[in-house]
Formats: sequence, C-alpha cells, structure tokens
Amino acid sequence: MNLDPRAVADMRINYDQGVLLESDAPADPLDLFTRWFDAARANLPAEAEPNAVALATADPDTGRPSCRIVLVKVIDPRGFCVFTNLESRKADQIARNPWAAMTFWWGQRSVRIEGRMLPVSAAESDAYYNARPIGSRIGAWASPQSRPIPDRKHLEDREQAFRDQFSDNPSPPRPPYWGGLRLVPDTIEFWQGRPSRLHDRLRYSRSINLEALDDAAAHGPWTMERLAP
Ligand SMILES: Cc1cc2nc3c(=O)[nH]c(=O)nc-3n(C[C@H](O)[C@H](O)[C@H](O)COP(=O)(O)O)c2cc1C
Repeated sequence: MNLDPRAVADMRINYDQGVLLESDAPADPLDLFTRWFDAARANLPAEAEPNAVALATADPDTGRPSCRIVLVKVIDPRGFCVFTNLESRKADQIARNPWAAMTFWWGQRSVRIEGRMLPVSAAESDAYYNARPIGSRIGAWASPQSRPIPDRKHLEDREQAFRDQFSDNPSPPRPPYWGGLRLVPDTIEFWQGRPSRLHDRLRYSRSINLEALDDAAAHGPWTMERLAP
C-alpha cells in the first residue's frame, strides 16, 4: 500500500454554504426534508444520486451492525422505502431486528433517519417492480443477493435462464423474494455544515405506534431540539 498519509489527513473543505436555524425549522420534519431533497436534486450532479442512503441494520444475536448503500424509491408521510431482495443479509437482519437507520449525504448537508423498518404491502412492491426497466426486473429474479456464488458466469447463466423463461411475457411477475422495506422514522436529524466545525444539528423525535406503523396519523407529535456538533 502506497498512500501518502498527509494527503488523507489534509483533505478538508470549509463548510460555509448554509445555516440551519430553529426559525427555518417547520413543525413537520418531512417538510424540511422535502426542501433539502429538492435542493440536493437541483444542485448536485445526477451521478451523486441524492436518493442514495447508507442503510444500517444490526444482527440481534451478535449486536454487530452492517451498512450498505441503497436507493430510496418512495418517500411519503409514512416513511422512506427501499427495494431489495427479501432474502438478503439486510432483509434477514430487519426481519429479526426491525430497528434500522439510514443516512443521506448531500455535500455540506446530511440527514440521519432512525426507526422501525417493515415490509411494504404486496401491492406497493408490485407497483414499483412493474415500473422498473425489464433488465432490472429479470435481474431481481436472477440474483440470490448476499449469497456466495461460484463465479460471474453463474449469475449470467441464471439471468439468461430467466430471460428465456419470460421471453414471451413482457410483464414478468415480481419474484416472491423481492420487495420494499419502509423505514418508519422516530428520529430525523438535519445536519448543516458550518465554519470552524461548529455545525448546526436539529433533531426531531417522536414516539411511533408499533401496532400501526403504516398509519402516518397513528404516531406521536414531533418535538425538536438542537444538538452540539
Ligand atoms: C449507488 C448504489 C445503489 C444501490 N442500490 C441498491 C438498492 O436500491 N437495493 C439493493 O438491494 N441494493 C442496492 N445496492 C447494493 C447494496 O449496496 C448491497 O450490495 C446489496 O443490497 C446487498 O447488501 P446486503 O448483503 O447487506 O443485504 C446499491 C449500491 C450502490 C453503490
């Protein structure tokens, strides 16, 4: 390994592009999220994929966390929905320990969301699956996500086998092991970088009704507080 340690340690930019004050903070954090998300979409290059998040889950047996990048595909008052293989490592951990966290990063801003993750309805998974390009729909069938496979050819052979199976079907059905997982937030924190590392952090919290996670109206009211950076 030949990496100049100074080159890494000296990487820094000054965060001076914005402020986040209590007077800017609406009662509903989703209103602030929408404002920031729209700004990220307008200001960042498309390759930055502003809907990409780091999604953290934890194995309940070992307490060991794991984290990966996924794309958020539905954002509504119920929460933040991603689509994935429901037999993957992440989905297995969520099935056994539904607490999860995701972090958006948009240059000098970040949003951290924590809460409870649960599968979306079959109808919601179908709706998103059917809107994907055909290659992605076949890919969902072909990939036993998170499992060891012998080589690249194995994957491509599986893809071809499913292409053949669905060759006369322009609308292949959704694989039973693929669908959406929604993070229902009980915490949403907004981080705005500021000079001298004296950043703004506003954290919204509420209690969520575990018996009615899909009902946006069933949860407690949001409260907000400032955190030290
Ligand atoms: C930019 C980007 C977007 C991704 N989007 C998704 C996604 O929406 N769904 C998904 O299952 N994996 C997505 N992945 C792959 C995941 O990072 C990960 O490799 C995969 O979900 C398996 O994770 P797991 O084994 O922990 O379950 C994406 C990766 C990157 C880098």
